[in-house]
Parts: sequence; C-alpha cells; structure tokens
Amino acid sequence: MNQTSQSKNAAAIIIALTCLFSIGYAILRYHIAGPVPWKDLSFFTLNKGIALSSFVLLTFNFSFGPLNNLGVPVSDGLLNSRKALGMTGFLLALIHVLMSFMLFNPAVFSKFYEENGTLTLTAGLSMLGGVLSFVVLWGYNLSFQTHLREDKKFIRFITSRNFLLVAMLFSLFHLFFMGYKGWLTPNAWHGGLPPISLVGFILFTVGYIINLFGRK
Ligand code: HEM
Repeated sequence: MNQTSQSKNAAAIIIALTCLFSIGYAILRYHIAGPVPWKDLSFFTLNKGIALSSFVLLTFNFSFGPLNNLGVPVSDGLLNSRKALGMTGFLLALIHVLMSFMLFNPAVFSKFYEENGTLTLTAGLSMLGGVLSFVVLWGYNLSFQTHLREDKKFIRFITSRNFLLVAMLFSLFHLFFMGYKGWLTPNAWHGGLPPISLVGFILFTVGYIINLFGRK
C-alpha cells in the first residue's frame, strides 16, 4: 500500500450516513408511521436508532476484510476505515446499554415481562445475548488498547476465525429472541416497515455469512 492509499479513510462519511439512516428509520417507523408519542424521541426512539447504528458499523467493521478475501473489490478508503468503525460501533453500543438500563421496566417494555413481574424466557435469553456480546466487544477493544496487545498468543486467539464466529452469534441471539414474534406478523408492522431488530438481524446475518466463507 503506498502513502496515498494508506491515508484514504471513509470512516467519517460511513458513520454519518449510518447514524442518519438508522435514527431516521427509527423516527419514520415509530413516530411518523407508528403510534409512539414525539416526547419519546429523545430517549426511547433514539436508543433504537443508536443500537441500529452500532450494529451496522460493527457489521461493516467485521465484514470488509473477509469480503475483500472473497474477491469482491473493497476500496482502500473502506479497509482503512475499519478501526474507526469498530471503535465508534463499540461506543454507540455502550450508549445503547446505558440507555437500555434506564429504560428497562415493565411500563416501557411490557412484552419482556410476565404478569408476576419476572422476565419472560425469551427476554432473558435476549438480554443474556446482549450482555455477552457487549462484554466480548469490550474485551476485544481492551486487548488492543492495553499491554495485552503484546501477548501474541492471546491476540491470535481473540482475532481468530473461530472466536469471532462464536462471539458474533451472541449479537444475533440478542436480536432474535427479542424480536422474532413481531417478525412473524408483517400485517402489524407500522407502515409496513420491518422492525429494527429484523433489519439488524438480516444485515448481521449477511455479515456473518461473509465472515464464514471469507475470514482466514
Ligand atoms: C448489556 C447489554 C445489552 C442490553 C442490556 C441491551 C438491551 C436492549 C434492549 C432493552 C433492547 C430493546 C430496545 C427497544 O425495543 O426499544 C435492545 C435492542 C437492541 N439492541 Fe441491545 N442491549 C445490549 C447490548 C447490545 C449490543 C452490544 C448491541 C450491538 C452490538 C445491541 C444492539 C441492539 C439492537 C440493534 C436492538 C434492536 C432495537 C429495536 O428492535 O428496537 N444491544 N437492547
């Protein structure tokens, strides 16, 4: 790679467009086509847009390299953007986690609770997937920011194909158990627009298949 190709980086534009699309989609689905009151835009709906942005950026981060390996030409600007996309995706996931903790109660998410106030089985599985995927993301980022990066064996393990393919499944569980019941009733989708969990799930599944075949 020469000097010019090393300095090309499309991260800023990808992050801006991803956030615009994801937050815009959440507003369109829940406020314009759906019944959610506008007062909930600043936290409830924004949390959904931020969660989707994080998911999309992390999918790009994990998939550009394997896509290139599969022979699909991926530009230097996209390849060089991966680090920034990964870090931004992680920080957006952190914001989503903090916001979700504050929102998490039966008045906001009645579908996650039994009548006796405990979590349903599917909500428990979904939250377990979310927590595990967040911890893996955190560990992954930490290992490059601390002295752990000098431990070659550990870095080989955490960047290995098998580790990443298993770790990515936690995020899919998070979305699947949260949303699959709603995915099966398209006639109830606000304005015919698929739920955010389904949009994220489809995109991430495509990324997963690219990793399955393209990651060395
Ligand atoms: C401690 C970990 C986590 C917790 C407690 C958590 C909690 C939640 C909750 C409560 C929802 C439902 C939001 C809603 O319907 O308004 C949700 C949705 C979602 N989460 Fe997480 N999450 C966690 C980790 C993650 C991570 C690491 C990611 C991204 C990599 C993520 C991505 C998403 C996405 C895309 C949705 C779908 C939003 C929707 O369908 O409206 N979550 N999460």
